[in-house]
Amino acid sequence: MKKVWMLLIVLVIAWAGYAQENDEISKEWAMMQASKDKMFEEFNELKFGMFIHWGVYSKLGGIWDGEHIDSDRAGHQATIGEWIMYSARIPRARYLEVAKTFNPVGFNADEWVKTAKDAGMRYIVAMAKHHDGFALYHSKVSKYNIYDHTPFKRDPMAELYEACQRHGIRMGMYYSHSIDWLDGGDSGNAQYNAANPDKPKETRAANLWDPAPVSYVDYLENKAKPQMREILTNFPNLLEIWYDYPRFMNRRQSFEFYKLAYDYQPQALINSRVGNGFGDFATGGDNQISPENFGPYRTWESPATLNNTWGYKSYDNDWKTLDELLIWVVELASKGGNYLLNVGPDGNGVIPEESVKVLREVGKWMKVNGEAIYGTQRWTTLREGSTVIPRGGTEERKNQGFTIRLTPEDLWFTAKGNFVYAMSLVDPVDNGISVKSLYNYRNQIKSIRMLGVDESLSWKAAGNTIEIGLPESNKPKVPGFVLKVELVDN
Ligand code: GLC
Repeated sequence: MKKVWMLLIVLVIAWAGYAQENDEISKEWAMMQASKDKMFEEFNELKFGMFIHWGVYSKLGGIWDGEHIDSDRAGHQATIGEWIMYSARIPRARYLEVAKTFNPVGFNADEWVKTAKDAGMRYIVAMAKHHDGFALYHSKVSKYNIYDHTPFKRDPMAELYEACQRHGIRMGMYYSHSIDWLDGGDSGNAQYNAANPDKPKETRAANLWDPAPVSYVDYLENKAKPQMREILTNFPNLLEIWYDYPRFMNRRQSFEFYKLAYDYQPQALINSRVGNGFGDFATGGDNQISPENFGPYRTWESPATLNNTWGYKSYDNDWKTLDELLIWVVELASKGGNYLLNVGPDGNGVIPEESVKVLREVGKWMKVNGEAIYGTQRWTTLREGSTVIPRGGTEERKNQGFTIRLTPEDLWFTAKGNFVYAMSLVDPVDNGISVKSLYNYRNQIKSIRMLGVDESLSWKAAGNTIEIGLPESNKPKVPGFVLKVELVDN
């Protein structure tokens, strides 16, 4: 009996210690986060960014040993190119052989930045290291990096960072902190399973086919953290740190990666995939149109692809059209989030022509209508019209294709100061439009204009809607139109 009591006492003390530590972690985190107010404003100003997935996998382009790698043997992340090492169970030594032939001489940092700028994007999130463990910058911590291990002998991330500074584009860095198929041991798989004895055993995303002979903690301490320190030192003014993804990480480990970034760059925003509820902003699900709320997070960003993969796949030609991309632009802005749209440069370092072309079209729309996107907030109504916008993810979009058919009733709203923006993505049929959500504001409307057209539009309240006359002929030559409604001060 005495023994049982002793055991109980020990357990209670251990629990109290654990709870207190957790509480201290939460407090420290809240303090760090509270110091970033200004950055949240900047993040909202920027609104639209370019994600870049690029690495040794781009050279493989989705093909291993002559086979298209589409169905992953574990049924996870089946479609995407940057997972090829995992999906085809490529041994580390063979992957490193491929890396030895990675020579992307077509890479030109200024061109990448120009593509982003022409699209109206205001920041770039680039790739320091993905789950394959191979660094795209000159790392001193691991020789598995593009400078030391390939014939290329350049540091493309440093070149990109400099190009971003030259062209006034903000930069963020993606770093796979928790999963590393090259050096990460089992990426925390055993640790996770031991800590969750009641849950079904998890194996997804871990390298269990040819793991490096190190413990997960060794990897975190001797590769991931030192590389993060390098990144934070080499690229001293980052907008955001894009950690990915904390599959098996525990709370303290996630917190340590948050804090490490904060200690070097207190201004940089950290995404929620740092894990375990830390992070300054939420990262939406891959290719999922985000919900309007992300619980405790102050803001969010939705990552999405241009076809059905992040990393280059030579045979994925299912490119999203301008019409589809613009739905994302307005849908996300109306909900108050940022849009992080991916390009996957090929093994030669070149962004596929199809991507460049459609991004240029998006840029033309942004040039006319970007005022309704950058720096805006949610309005009281997010949208009107009944067309259903599917929320799915990468696989759903791949299987179903683009199915949305918009009508002139579909409108999205954003707001900035005294202005409300009403965005339509289809051209009006009879030069008029009616906007129900403005009816309650009928006594406050000062003027209504169309972005890109220099005239005031006529309008009247009728029934329970506001009817607006649209310009006859000089509508800007981009899909749809945006109305800028000025309201009187309250
Ligand atoms: C997922 C994938 C990864 C991709 C990322 C983009 O977490 O593991 O390959 O980089 O999503 O959001």
